[in-house]
Amino acid sequence: MPTPLLDRFLAFLDDSPSPQHAAANVAEALAQVGFSAIDERAKPESLKAGAKHYIQRNGSIVAFRIGSGPVAEVGFRLIAAHTDSPNLRIKPNPEMKKHGMVRLGVETYGGVLQASWADRDLGIAGQVVLRDGSLRLVDLRRPLCRIPNLAIHLNRGVNKDGLVLNAQTQLPALLTLSDEERPLHRLLAAELGCDADDILTWDLGLYDLTPPTLAGAHDEFLHSARLDNLASCHAGLEAMVAACEGDAPSQTAVLGLFDHEEIGSRTARGAQGRMFEDVLSRIVRDSPQAEGGLARAMAHSWLISADMAHAVHPGFSEKHDGEHMPKLGKGPVIKRNANWRYGTEADSAAMFIALCQEVDAPYQYFVNRSDLSCGSTVGPIVASNLGVRTVDCGNPMLSMHSAREMCASADHEPMTKVMTAFFQGAGPA
Ligand code: CO
Repeated sequence: MPTPLLDRFLAFLDDSPSPQHAAANVAEALAQVGFSAIDERAKPESLKAGAKHYIQRNGSIVAFRIGSGPVAEVGFRLIAAHTDSPNLRIKPNPEMKKHGMVRLGVETYGGVLQASWADRDLGIAGQVVLRDGSLRLVDLRRPLCRIPNLAIHLNRGVNKDGLVLNAQTQLPALLTLSDEERPLHRLLAAELGCDADDILTWDLGLYDLTPPTLAGAHDEFLHSARLDNLASCHAGLEAMVAACEGDAPSQTAVLGLFDHEEIGSRTARGAQGRMFEDVLSRIVRDSPQAEGGLARAMAHSWLISADMAHAVHPGFSEKHDGEHMPKLGKGPVIKRNANWRYGTEADSAAMFIALCQEVDAPYQYFVNRSDLSCGSTVGPIVASNLGVRTVDCGNPMLSMHSAREMCASADHEPMTKVMTAFFQGAGPA
């Protein structure tokens, strides 16, 4: 059943076809409840209890609300997630002309499930820099591109061997039959109201135009692109907004949404870069009574690292450990891995369970099969950078990294409630 929360979730997914759009939409939603931007190049100002700010670097954003207690004595409540999703990124000189057709050359970004991009109506979104130096978000929201499948008559083994697309020669997306010069520049110029010559450079990706929707016999499913990990970003955003409705709790709430997780996070604004620590150091430095600094604050802090989890697939249940199979619709998943692919330990798992109990949310565990290698998240990265107690969690989903993924519509609310309670200071200190 649609709810106001799910309506907002679907709108956020639809409005965020690129990490830059996602971060901008988070900034806009937070601005509506009194958050203001901090310019990192400006001289710092002191931060008082209840102050609400965010710092944005392109597709990454860190937002915080200063708590009523001294941060060195009560610490942070941190939630981290990622804004990026695997997709196809358009090259700087993209036009490839062959057989009277023009295709756009692409690079795969992250672990793309390539075959899922075939035969879809694709739009183009991201950011463009103009000749005057201005940076513009752009969303060409109409069926411009397509990666055509090969007819089965010419690919007889496809149902046995799978669809294999060479990223250099077969993934480029068909754009036009016209022989006009620089067709993508022209499309962008028309959208931005400038000349094609004004388009200097870009970060653009393809995206599936099918809108997010509730699905299934009873609306129990939610189908969309980019659920990994905009679902966690949106839960964190909702939690920050909800937690700001009351008086500030003693702990400072911080929501860190980072670009570049899908390519390893080791970038200028990724979770392994300096950005998170820069913002937290700034808060400690500019807050009153910060004796002991960041290290003391960290000793009082918890991190929830939220990223989507692998639900059991009914056709491939042997891919899961039989005792640790997350099920769609059964609530947040706590992820454990002995080799620290996830940052969860017993104390942080217990903290998360206490939050679930506080808000009457169910929870379940994921542990990878012991004979398969395990994925990872920003959790261990941030935990090791900051030395903060960390739990890795996320809602269960199917079709992860497909151009169109799915999850259960019922799981979004409990995750949002758990995060809200966390930001409000519930659970162990
Ligand atoms: Co993810």
